[in-house]
Amino acid sequence: MDSVIVLDFGGQYAHLIARRIRDFGVYSEILPYDVDLDKIRKITPKAIIFSGGPRSIYEKDSPTISNEFFKFTFENKIPLLGICYGHHLIIHKHEGEVEPKETKEYGRANLIIIEKSLLFDSLDREEIVWMSHGDQVISLPNGFKILAKTDTCPIASYANEDQLLYGVQFHPEVVNTPKGNKILENFVFKIAQCKKEWKVEGLIDKIIEEIKNELGPDKKVILGLSGGVDSSVTAVLIHRVIGDRLHSVFVNNGLLRKNEEIEVQNTFKEQLNFKNFHYIDAQELFLKRLENIEDPEEKRKIIGHTFIEVFENKTIELEKVNPDIKYLAQGTIYPDRVETSATSNASAKIKSHHNVTLPEDMTLQIIEPLKDLYKDEVRRIGIKLGVPKEIISRHPFPGPGLAVRIVGSINKEKLDILRKADEILIDEIKKAGVYESLWQVFCVFLPLKTVGVMGDSRTYEYICAIRAVESLDVMTANFAKLNWDLLEKIGTRITNEVKGINRVVYDITNKPPGTIEYE
Ligand code: XMP
Repeated sequence: MDSVIVLDFGGQYAHLIARRIRDFGVYSEILPYDVDLDKIRKITPKAIIFSGGPRSIYEKDSPTISNEFFKFTFENKIPLLGICYGHHLIIHKHEGEVEPKETKEYGRANLIIIEKSLLFDSLDREEIVWMSHGDQVISLPNGFKILAKTDTCPIASYANEDQLLYGVQFHPEVVNTPKGNKILENFVFKIAQCKKEWKVEGLIDKIIEEIKNELGPDKKVILGLSGGVDSSVTAVLIHRVIGDRLHSVFVNNGLLRKNEEIEVQNTFKEQLNFKNFHYIDAQELFLKRLENIEDPEEKRKIIGHTFIEVFENKTIELEKVNPDIKYLAQGTIYPDRVETSATSNASAKIKSHHNVTLPEDMTLQIIEPLKDLYKDEVRRIGIKLGVPKEIISRHPFPGPGLAVRIVGSINKEKLDILRKADEILIDEIKKAGVYESLWQVFCVFLPLKTVGVMGDSRTYEYICAIRAVESLDVMTANFAKLNWDLLEKIGTRITNEVKGINRVVYDITNKPPGTIEYE
């Protein structure tokens, strides 16, 4: 099958590039820039893309690539597209000139296409693009020609058609470059001549076959099921193959949304006929351990450790009766597993962890059937497998649940207030038909009391913040410009119907600088 490799030079967008290419129907995977050339040789990709990156090629130890690599792509006629840092690197390695600029250029720019080429085929002479760079290419080696410029960047794109080398200073992979997809498509189909052979639905049979081979006729599997998209699709896939040899464990940590534990049980036990679905009510234990804990990191740690403890105890209990439990299934997906430099460095420092990893002394083997897929692909597989729509279209919900949506310490009273407010919000958002256009929408409990008036009486109650964001890649997000009338309706319903809240505010912070969750 034709494939495109994205070499990661530390940019924020390596996953975005690979995801776009897969959306075109061509398989794409991300590899670190310093991957062994033999590994690339084995894959024999139809094309390679160098991602952007935060460094300057003049910095000490900045990522680079060997001359042997260029020899390999040239001899095998593999087209190469450099984006931003990749655009500089190709020129730097071919002895052209790249100049560090004192001020970074960041934002929209007007691209003027000055030379016909396959890369910009069917684009207008002028197009909007998204720039973000410090260095700039100022002169090209022999054999290269300028394809496009902007007011401030005389070589915004180049090509060496004989050597199949292309570069763009801007980011075609982000939505802020409106024709970015067309440029990537031109590269993938017109220049690299890839065939559309990647269709995720067609993968189901292959994944099922792999699960069958791995688990044989008698091995049993345990799985922590949260009811989110990834763990649910994993559960349904494995259940398809081994039926009741799958033991799903659902832990109610007391931090779930209203009726969530009932809905998840109904879906799996009633609708999907999971016989070995184990519900654990651990609300008291979690809430007791979280009592009076205010620090966000400490809250996350307590929740993570308690989850592991509860899950391990259940596993031991189940293993006693089912000695054939040999596997632990996890809903890991591609971005969880292949951390780009951006996800491994920058975001890890901001919040302690995302998904709980189980202790190493667990002797179970891990099975991760979705490990090579993106979220949209998991959703498509889920639809094909008949996973109910409410699960497929659900917004992401963090592992630590409502604990990261209550600022400061947590107790049952605050949780109940937040659950009621959130239920109203989601109800109105769904009725207005905007749920699926949002990345996430939820209520946040602010432990701050303000004065209000209800009828003739003074009130003194808490504040509820509404967070609604649009995002493509999670790393950046914009607050959603929801309709005023809709917001008014939500605010009025929450203050009228939820005892304990007398003021509702709308969060207008983008990410960065804010994060999506509050803690
Ligand atoms: P932030 O708040 O970092 O969130 O902008 C980015 C995305 O990650 C989700 N999130 C989590 N998901 N466990 C999870 O499974 C966690 O601990 C966690 N913390 C944040 C968040 O909902 C958003 O989609």
